[in-house]
Amino acid sequence: MLPDQQDILWSFLAISFTVFALYAFFNVIKHCREREDVSTSLLGTVFGVFLVAVFLETVHMFDLVQGDQIIFFFKYQITTVFLLLLTWGRFFKSEKIQDQSPPIIRGFFFWTTVSVLLAGYTNWLPQQRSDPPPKGGAEISGDITMEEYAEMGRLIVFGSSQVAGQKAIGKGQCPLCHTFEPGNDIGRCPNLFGVEERSHSRLKEDRYLNEPFKVDEKDPATHVLKGKPGAIEAAYRRAGAGDEMIGEDYIRESMMCPSCYVVKGFGKAGDKKSPMPVINKPPISLSPVEVNAVIAWLQSKDTPGEFAKVTVPLPSADATAAEEPASGEEEDAPIFVTGTESIDEMINTLGCPLCHTTPGIEGAFGELGPKLHEKINAPNRIKDPRYKGKASNTKEYVRESILAPSAYVVFNEVEGELFPDGLMPPDFKNKLSIEALDKLVDFISQTEG
Ligand code: HEC
Ligand code: HEC
Repeated sequence: MLPDQQDILWSFLAISFTVFALYAFFNVIKHCREREDVSTSLLGTVFGVFLVAVFLETVHMFDLVQGDQIIFFFKYQITTVFLLLLTWGRFFKSEKIQDQSPPIIRGFFFWTTVSVLLAGYTNWLPQQRSDPPPKGGAEISGDITMEEYAEMGRLIVFGSSQVAGQKAIGKGQCPLCHTFEPGNDIGRCPNLFGVEERSHSRLKEDRYLNEPFKVDEKDPATHVLKGKPGAIEAAYRRAGAGDEMIGEDYIRESMMCPSCYVVKGFGKAGDKKSPMPVINKPPISLSPVEVNAVIAWLQSKDTPGEFAKVTVPLPSADATAAEEPASGEEEDAPIFVTGTESIDEMINTLGCPLCHTTPGIEGAFGELGPKLHEKINAPNRIKDPRYKGKASNTKEYVRESILAPSAYVVFNEVEGELFPDGLMPPDFKNKLSIEALDKLVDFISQTEG
């Protein structure tokens, strides 16, 4: 509903400025018409120019991202409207128009109306944000339907609350990399549309049986025995699973052992290694009930309202009780860091390590983006003739990379091609306070191999 990465407040104020300028224009024309001694065309032109200026500024607002919108608004638009008010006031005075209240009073009433509308809007926003979240794992009491269980899976993927301009994202973090709608491919990770269907056919592929290692062999990273659902960690194991893989097991294995099968073209080292994080390990750490909920959603999402293809069982009351209160509250809160957190905590909360190997951050071995060796990288990026951004030093470059990742797309030396543009989320600006951004930039500007 909301324009991505923009704050509706500034767009809204800009539009109301245009309406105001339009009103002033017609008002002046009306007065000129009523009197013979003033030149309609001269004053019409003056106020017409104001109107066009304010209108163009408003259009420009929609090209800007949130941070720039605020600056533009206060620097230029406020000034224009202030000049407009002054000119309008002079016009009233010089033409001795007494039959109505002066512009300043009208301006005041106009802005009161706008403020009331805005207050109404902002009042409505927090309610949007804090609607009691549909409950996650801990709240399941036993008697739930498959529809509810799949919905729980959907919430683990997308989260239950979304803040204006932020990508919907839940504890599972899947949308950081994956898309789910037909045709929506952002590049570096498979679109999970149709994954239920694929989960059956994948198992018969020669690539599944033999690459990157054979069925029955152990994945060195996760110690999962490939193609053996009966050997999966007990808590996550399908009841009654033996040696026979079914579709559900493929999806589970994809999450618990991403490198057991690497979708062609989406892996590292010649598709031998998956860059996908292990979903049941930190930082994502989905519990067994949560993994199954996600599977239930993946198996049913392409056939809305139909759950016949879901093979995971509903969770028993015992299983859910055994799980630590999965702290529904915490993971439902929109992602935001204030800057009071430690640098580790900030970076992990934001999910940077899922894509970036980051020196100094434990377990940050993500491989979908460049290694963050910015002390060395940044100066080289700025020197690159391809660089068209605005940064002139390392800190500025890092800041720009976080706020506007597409300003410069890094070349991947290993793969011999550009890193995928659009994979790094462009909405971090909504997830950070100014202090947090400063702290993050300071830290990342110092990283080296
Ligand atoms: C950091 C990025 C990233 C995140 C986060 C991520 N994935 Fe993946 N995923 C990938 C990549 C890359 C692949 C392709 C390589 C492979 O097969 O492992 C993949 C593959 C898959 C596959 C196999 C698809 C197929 O067509 O066979 C499934 C299923 C999957 N992911 C599910 C998930 C789910 C569910 C989540 C969230 C709980 C998730 N992924 C989170 C990057 C990610
Ligand atoms: C979903 C994956 C993903 C996540 C999450 C992510 N990035 Fe990135 N990042 C990328 C990719 C891909 C690139 C390279 C393409 C580009 O330049 O836009 C990149 C580029 C960068 C660069 C430029 C690197 C260079 O050497 O020039 C910086 C700095 C950066 N990211 C920082 C961050 C920080 C900080 C976070 C967390 C707040 C983060 N990224 C989260 C994928 C990601």
